Amino acid sequence: MDLSILFSSLLLSCVLFASSTDAKYNAVFSFGDSFADTGNFVILESQLLPVIPIDLPPYGMTFFGHPTGRCSNGRLIIDFICESLGLPFLPPSLSHNESFTKGANFAVVGATALDLAFFQENNITGIPPIDSSLSVQLGWFDALKPSLCKTTRKCKNYMKKSLFFVGEFGGNDYNFLLTSGKTLDQVIETYVPKVIDVVYKAVEKLIGEGAATVVVPGNVPTGCIPAILTLFASPNKTDYDPQTGCLKKFNELGKHHNLLLLKAVEQLRKKYLYARIIYADYYAPVIEFASKPTQFGFSNGAIKACCGGGGPYNYNVSAVCGLPGVSACKDPSTYANWDGIHLTEASYSRIATGWLKGPYAHPPIQNLSY
Ligand SMILES: *[C@@H]1O[C@H](CO)[C@@H](O)[C@H](O)[C@H]1NC(C)=O
Ligand SMILES: *[C@@H]1O[C@H](CO)[C@@H](O)[C@H](O)[C@H]1NC(C)=O
Ligand SMILES: *[C@@H]1O[C@H](CO)[C@@H](O)[C@H](O)[C@H]1NC(C)=O
Ligand SMILES: *[C@@H]1O[C@H](CO)[C@@H](O)[C@H](O)[C@H]1NC(C)=O
Repeated sequence: MDLSILFSSLLLSCVLFASSTDAKYNAVFSFGDSFADTGNFVILESQLLPVIPIDLPPYGMTFFGHPTGRCSNGRLIIDFICESLGLPFLPPSLSHNESFTKGANFAVVGATALDLAFFQENNITGIPPIDSSLSVQLGWFDALKPSLCKTTRKCKNYMKKSLFFVGEFGGNDYNFLLTSGKTLDQVIETYVPKVIDVVYKAVEKLIGEGAATVVVPGNVPTGCIPAILTLFASPNKTDYDPQTGCLKKFNELGKHHNLLLLKAVEQLRKKYLYARIIYADYYAPVIEFASKPTQFGFSNGAIKACCGGGGPYNYNVSAVCGLPGVSACKDPSTYANWDGIHLTEASYSRIATGWLKGPYAHPPIQNLSY
């Protein structure tokens, strides 16, 4: 055998090997709410609340086999993305006895973009008892950082090789505002820009510390969520989209939020040319699930919950999933919605694939790597 061929093929395999290991992110850091929380809420509230429905069966019934603090029957989008990147499931940042060198999840059920003080000052009620807003989550990251990297230079490099998720945020802000009497027009005109501004500044802060790849998920179409369809049910048929059965005006809110968020992402891209900022779409897939449920295997539809206490959308605020006497459907993979608010693992899996490979992320996460 010609030694030079052997040598060059060895060299080639080294190069290929090097580029495939380079392609991995070192770590994933996630900020968000119940669409991303992998256990922080339960850790925070276990001493304060007598009953935490999401910490009880049938949560986790399909994957994990027991409740984990995730608001689903199994894995969330962030779990599928970590799996696909060859990284472990993200431990909740507030857990003890965990290693965070490969990432941490700062997301908390009920988290808002705006600070708790903002809601209190404006007499907005129904907010969570503990401040877990985006600025608080960023503070937790700051506190964790010295254990991840030591010098400024090393930290910049560590940040550069990490993948960040900022969101979803806004859904809870809008729900708290609407349920305390603000009108949809007030929310759209006054509060959406405030929420977008907070998300913009959070992404900017991370980029300033060296982050080079940031995924910014938009809002879900809340008009397709069983809880909203139940609480804001309308006798007027014209309030519903005939194709999806969703409440049109609530979807307008999500659409408006996403439009402003996309503009903010474009602004950030122009300002930080070296950073890759990905807009991840929650809206389009949920609309597609509701328009053509059977195409995705959701033979029991997309706007009726798998686990709930009855009613046209199987959502009852006094009998939510996890409480005694409330049971799950037989096959959660035939439903897009899990508990009246959050999605099933089957939905999250499809959205995660769409974020990784397209068409639900711009650009797809898998097209970018280190
Ligand atoms: C903490 O980690 C140690 C070593 O990995 C393990 O032996 C111990 O059981 C853990 N404790 C808890 C409370 O998880
Ligand atoms: C909040 O409520 C308090 C007490 O009712 C009132 O004095 C205050 O003006 C209210 N603040 C706003 C911003 O509405
Ligand atoms: C239903 O809503 C439409 C559009 O807002 C309105 O024109 C119509 O009068 C409403 N019908 C009833 C019965 O309230
Ligand atoms: C909701 O659940 C409560 C408590 O179980 C029950 O009393 C009520 O009838 C239910 N409402 C509907 C519409 O099913």
